[in-house]
Amino acid sequence: MSTSPRKTLIAANWKMYKTPDEAVAFVRSFIPLIGHHRHAEIVLCPSPTMLATVVDAARNNPIHVAAQNMHWLDQGAYTGETSPLQLKALGVTHVLIGHSERRQYFNETDESVNLKLKAALVHGLIPIVCVGEMLAEREANQTTEVLERQTSIALGGIDPAAAHPLVIAYEPVWAIGTGRTATPEIADDAHKVIRAEIARSLSPEVAAGTRILYGGSVKPDNTASLCCLEDIDGALVGGASLDPASFAQIVANSAT
Ligand code: PGA
Repeated sequence: MSTSPRKTLIAANWKMYKTPDEAVAFVRSFIPLIGHHRHAEIVLCPSPTMLATVVDAARNNPIHVAAQNMHWLDQGAYTGETSPLQLKALGVTHVLIGHSERRQYFNETDESVNLKLKAALVHGLIPIVCVGEMLAEREANQTTEVLERQTSIALGGIDPAAAHPLVIAYEPVWAIGTGRTATPEIADDAHKVIRAEIARSLSPEVAAGTRILYGGSVKPDNTASLCCLEDIDGALVGGASLDPASFAQIVANSAT
């Protein structure tokens, strides 16, 4: 059993899936399935069009709602963007920042991740900052360098005293949606690299308190072997989070 003081966090990244009706149906089926699990902070990350609906459906239940992305400014002429103020007004509590799909397809950079992280902390949104190497980078032995770079730039200029809500998700890009999960050893090594970088960039105290999630083909049957490790504090789940029974099983299996 892990002795970590960090509360497990299990997040469902629904990406561009589900309609509002399907999201409500998910929440209704999911709630009775997780009734007795209080060991984990459970977070659902729906598309922006469903944030209010999911906040509403989950009200008075131990389920938090995250946006999958946001802009860093409070308001402005930025067509198609959503601001932290707008998310807060909906009752959203968490936000994914720098998911690899945003880095790959929507020009998200380490610098924009840093701006978004600062904005989340200012507005009291719990940031889940995603980092992770591409397959070519792993094969070229650049994993440590990539994780250190992504983490240190994300954390640039952040006051360690204000950083305690920080959550990092280690998502090796080669494991996302591929069915190819990182072995617990690979994930644990990466989490140690990230925690050491947080200690260098912010402080050893912040590093010790920061939750680092693993993401990339997490399924009910590999959750326990990942979540039992000392440096893995939960999971960011894509495909296996779309079904309420599968996601509830992941929550249950994370209680290691
Ligand atoms: P996956 O996605 O679980 O489908 O690999 C994880 C993610 O992209 O957050």
